[in-house]
Amino acid sequence: MEKKTVRAGLVGSGFSSTFHFEALQKVYGASVEVVGVFSKDADRGKVFAEKRGIRAFPTLGDLLAEVDAVHVCVPPVAHEPTAIAALERDKFVICEKPLTGYFGDGSADFHWARADMEIALETALASVDRILEAERGSKGRLLYAENWVYAPAVQKEREILEKTGGQILWIHGEEAHSGSHSADYAHAARCGGGVLIGKGCHPLTAALYLKRVEGRACGAPIRPKTVTARTHAITRMPGFRDQGHIRCDYYDIDDFAMIHVEFDDGTIATIVTSDIVLGGIHNWLEVCANNHRTICNINPNTAMQTYNPVEANFQDIYVVEKIGTKQGWACTSPDEDWFTGYPQEIEAFYRTIADGEPPESDSLLAADAISTIYSAYLSARRAGAAVDVRAY
Ligand SMILES: NC(=O)c1ccc[n+]([C@@H]2O[C@H](COP(=O)([O-])OP(=O)(O)OC[C@H]3O[C@@H](n4cnc5c(N)ncnc54)[C@H](O)[C@@H]3O)[C@@H](O)[C@H]2O)c1
Repeated sequence: MEKKTVRAGLVGSGFSSTFHFEALQKVYGASVEVVGVFSKDADRGKVFAEKRGIRAFPTLGDLLAEVDAVHVCVPPVAHEPTAIAALERDKFVICEKPLTGYFGDGSADFHWARADMEIALETALASVDRILEAERGSKGRLLYAENWVYAPAVQKEREILEKTGGQILWIHGEEAHSGSHSADYAHAARCGGGVLIGKGCHPLTAALYLKRVEGRACGAPIRPKTVTARTHAITRMPGFRDQGHIRCDYYDIDDFAMIHVEFDDGTIATIVTSDIVLGGIHNWLEVCANNHRTICNINPNTAMQTYNPVEANFQDIYVVEKIGTKQGWACTSPDEDWFTGYPQEIEAFYRTIADGEPPESDSLLAADAISTIYSAYLSARRAGAAVDVRAY
């Protein structure tokens, strides 16, 4: 059977556009033509395009006119307008995490600690509603680029749940490292919050997804019901002693969060996320079911381990994300993108676009994640009192 050709465009020319472009090169279920890129930073967009032999477009509208699908690889504050513009033109949207959020009140001295979290929740959900409304009126669809859903370990767990009919009693997981490099990340108004949304969204969405899989297998949807959370700003404590290993120049974000979700079947998920963990990225998810137990070591894992006696030996060698030193033993990743689920998510999305395969990670999963996250921020403001989650 001849493969359908899908014309793809990228919005944004930074970090995530780079791994989306790499993953696009590996799609085999459809024939993909990467047409070009639109980036707010036109100079960077041009360099990005030239390096990859694609076109740089002067406006989003110009790009949309020539593609079937766009990758929303821009900061979270720009997700909603970009996604809606594309859906209104009947395009498919592959949207990076988080789907959307609350980005402050526009005041110059906005500070997350003084912000009203009821307004944050309300504003974020209104944004979700507008995106879902645009999707309902579109011939396109929003595919949510939560790579944890497509990480091979999480997809293997999907198979186990489907074939054994397991009931997940408790999921716990974490995403952590020693601090994001992005300048914008210091400001809640630019990212929609701090580590809870920025990193916590990954294990949380994987947990919501696996409960969804369980519900699908037994014929009754299982959704988040309440959330309890605490957030902290450990590196902004007056007593934090900086020894140069952990980023600590944040303006107003949380750098540690713990959230506890109760699902409507009474089972639970506990997610921890932070910017205070040394030793490389720490991404894992553990499923405690009534008939099995699974530990998904997304990163690091022991697929490969290296011992390097002299730091300089590995000067030109990528070892693993956020590792502080290359000397000694390391869980060197032979293919980090693969373990992380980047090529798998893009492959799956192009099968949806070309052949209509139902996506595992869609706008409703993204919406539940946003709803849970901002309910968690409200809970944290109330020192951990449980808050009801509006599930989509
Ligand atoms: N899934 C993951 O593992 C992962 C990893 C990193 C980032 N992300 C997500 O990807 C998104 C982008 O992050 P990044 O690290 O690539 O950021 P980045 O700063 O490296 O790049 C952002 C790019 O978007 C452009 N841009 C900004 N506003 C724009 C607009 N309105 N229209 C067009 N272009 C615009 C900038 O010029 C820049 O080229 C974020 O939502 C982030 O959460 C996901």
